[in-house]
Amino acid sequence: MTFRARHLLGIEHLAPDEIRTVLDLAESYVELNQRTVKRSDALAGMTQINMFFENSTRTQASFELAGKRLGADVMNMSVAHSSVKKGETLIDTALTLNAMHPDLLVVRHPASGAVDLLAQKVNCAVLNAGDGRHEHPTQALLDALTIRRAKGRIQRLTVAICGDIAHSRVARSNLILLGKMENRIRLIGPPTLMPSGVADLGCEVYDDMREGLLDADVVMMLRLQKERMDGGFIPSEREYYHRFGLDAEKLGFAKEDAIVMHPGPMNRGVEIDGELADDINRSVIQDQVEMGVAVRMACMDLLARNLRAERGRQAAGVMV
Ligand code: NCD
Repeated sequence: MTFRARHLLGIEHLAPDEIRTVLDLAESYVELNQRTVKRSDALAGMTQINMFFENSTRTQASFELAGKRLGADVMNMSVAHSSVKKGETLIDTALTLNAMHPDLLVVRHPASGAVDLLAQKVNCAVLNAGDGRHEHPTQALLDALTIRRAKGRIQRLTVAICGDIAHSRVARSNLILLGKMENRIRLIGPPTLMPSGVADLGCEVYDDMREGLLDADVVMMLRLQKERMDGGFIPSEREYYHRFGLDAEKLGFAKEDAIVMHPGPMNRGVEIDGELADDINRSVIQDQVEMGVAVRMACMDLLARNLRAERGRQAAGVMV
């Protein structure tokens, strides 16, 4: 097993063999999660703190369940009631928590780079649960596991990522991961929602769903991130749905066995047709949620192993 990372801050820091290690270990956790007794002691005795400075339903629930199933003591820090609201800085909060000796810190923050900064100040392993528009590494890993299970591989696939690319950390992390694993990536969306310079990253860019979806193996839809928009990105939601919303007709341009993905939460009738999202023959959206728990278990297990090894080396160094 190869996994050298001390923190999980972004896909950009992972090598293809490390990505494969996460996915392979996650497979064993998928199996564990289907049992009646879902218990491992990989994190027994360890403390995991979840700090979410932005709203989250599935990611926070998924990290909490993952930690509990691995036997960690899990604490959800409610940021709404914390000293952060009284003006304490992110770093002060981190140092306060650090003094309580957590082993794993799971952080979501609206500012890109905030999680990296925090990781430099603490002694535990830090997992990025989404920082601004930057990265959301566990989402890309769970998407990769979902794709690998549905398609039998995570190489040489044509993957279309559609919608609000500009505001999406999910798109960014997926782009990096799928690129590292040698897939063909197409980005589809209105030019106003396409970050500049993406074509230089080696992906093809389209503003027409029919052209972009042609022969795609995987169709990944994104939420319109209205909270990150400050006005005029789209004419109207109705117009957006007409041009970029995924429905059965547009999906007809992709391969016959193409799968449909969405990280959630979905705006039904805006970026995706509600019936298609629920169609278990095409949509793997519920599988993504299931894979999320397994992937987060694998990531925390691997980081905990590295943390134990590092502390072991430090202890040995002190004794010499
Ligand atoms: C994503 C996020 O928060 O970046 N959601 C998630 O983690 N499941 C995508 C989104 O909010 O649209």
